[in-house]
Amino acid sequence: LQILVLNGPNLNMLGRREPQTYGTLTLNELIATLDKQAQQLGVTLSHFQSNSEAELINKIHDAWQQIDAIIINPAAFTHTSIALRDALLSVNIPFYEVHISNVYAREPFRHKSYFSDIAQGVICGLGAIGYQAALMAAVSKLHNKNN
Ligand code: DQA
Repeated sequence: LQILVLNGPNLNMLGRREPQTYGTLTLNELIATLDKQAQQLGVTLSHFQSNSEAELINKIHDAWQQIDAIIINPAAFTHTSIALRDALLSVNIPFYEVHISNVYAREPFRHKSYFSDIAQGVICGLGAIGYQAALMAAVSKLHNKNN
């Protein structure tokens, strides 16, 4: 099984960026932990972070017929990007939406997501553990199609 992890704008700044909101773990550390978990689960993980909407869209298109599930933190594009939403719909790959912070405890403009209604699942407020929970859920779902 091939799982793709996508991280949107400013997530390359994890660890330095608003640590009171996003924690002190860097993106590299987060991905290294996730990679270990993937190996234990016997799945292959690929990861891509971009600050560019176009690059994220192209990566989703490239995933067509290659990737079994996507774990995506669209970051600020969550609240703005119909184009990213349409890209995910175009490849028809099940995806999990993850947010490190609890977006519902924050500004009202973060309460609206262009992804949640078409996601397989949505996780927010669990910090980096949210990605691990999503990976567990994705693999379990792919192994056992009826849960
Ligand atoms: C975020 C929440 C978004 O509102 C914000 O723009 C981000 C990160 C999160 O992981 O909590 O960049 O997606």
